[in-house]
Amino acid sequence: MLEIPVDLGERAYTVSIGHGLSAALPELLADHRGRRALVVSNRRVWSLHGARVEKALRKLGPLARVLIADGEAHKDRATLAAIHDAMWKERLGRDGLVVAFGGGVVGDVAGFAAATWMRGVDWVQLPTTLLAMVDSSVGGKVGINHPGGKNLIGAFHQPRAVVIDPAFLATLPRRETQSGAYEILKCGVIADRALFKALADAPVGLVGWGRVEVENAIASAVRIKAEVVEKDEREGGLRRVLNLGHTIGHALEAVTRYRRFTHGEAVGWGLVGAAWIAHRRDLFAGSAFDSLAAAVDRLGPRPRVSDLSTARILAAIGSDKKAVKGRAAFVLPTRIGAVTIRPDVQAAEIRRALRVMNGREALTAR
Ligand code: NAD
Ligand code: GLY
Repeated sequence: MLEIPVDLGERAYTVSIGHGLSAALPELLADHRGRRALVVSNRRVWSLHGARVEKALRKLGPLARVLIADGEAHKDRATLAAIHDAMWKERLGRDGLVVAFGGGVVGDVAGFAAATWMRGVDWVQLPTTLLAMVDSSVGGKVGINHPGGKNLIGAFHQPRAVVIDPAFLATLPRRETQSGAYEILKCGVIADRALFKALADAPVGLVGWGRVEVENAIASAVRIKAEVVEKDEREGGLRRVLNLGHTIGHALEAVTRYRRFTHGEAVGWGLVGAAWIAHRRDLFAGSAFDSLAAAVDRLGPRPRVSDLSTARILAAIGSDKKAVKGRAAFVLPTRIGAVTIRPDVQAAEIRRALRVMNGREALTAR
């Protein structure tokens, strides 16, 4: 088992990573023994892995569950209300514990329900997608979507523990594995050349990777995220580096109403766009751009971007919640393993980047 501390003073917690670790939940969560717990999951994850997790959690104390509908469309107020209703029905008190068991959607909405129930109850994360293991389960960002935009309603509420069991990945569809792989690659570009190299050489969809390779890649990504979050928990500055690839990525998701791309696929495209902008500014060498774009392409095909309206993408970038006065800050790579933040990227630069992305479609389109 690998253990990565997230040192946030009184909100500190440990991320434990290991194949089969869910069987050790009674020991890993021993501090929470006897507390009334509510597991939040979705029907799909529960039908695949619920029995195993329920058996382990029942050893800790009284347990109830609420299963939410699957998909980004349900990261909404109706689902939040349903979880709050379950908390009420189960008489979950301030000493209760919420267990988020699923991908990033479950983690975000369950964490936000925990943050808002009785002004905040404890919660733990048991992520089941690669993306949730390497990104959303760590760092305490929780929330739901508003009809006007993604993640507009939210909070920072750190979990008390994160338990990552890569055994859950055995049932994950390949496209979802790819989605998480783009986020791992992103971490490599931000801060870890060796991690970048491991992903750049990885087989499509990480098919054929062994347990050790998977665990090491997850641990490296989590370490990077933990280090950033420790220095800037509430995204006052440094934490924005984790948004590499997200400025264009979020816009692609928004203009396609979150139906065309997985989050990671959109980030993959966004990495290429940001790298091109950095290259055109002479911040990022041409050879580095080539290896980054090749690594993104190698991780698998992504849905196309060429039929999307450039004007709508630019408008979506301008209305991103991180934009200031209509201009979104861009995280730009300066080499593999280092990035800088630039607030002054012009529409013309983004247009050129989109043209380069369109040109790569021949390599990647499904
Ligand atoms: P997801 O939660 O929708 O899961 C993807 C699909 O995989 C779903 O259909 C789910 O039911 C299924 N699934 C989950 N685990 C499975 C398993 N082990 N086997 C088979 N199927 C499984 O998507 P995601 O990519 O995990 O998360 C995306 C969400 O995460 C977005 O809402 C995004 O905004 C959020 N996010 C949050 C943060 C954060 O810091 N809080 C960071 C990144 C992304
Ligand atoms: N996913 C970006 C962050 O957690 O800050």
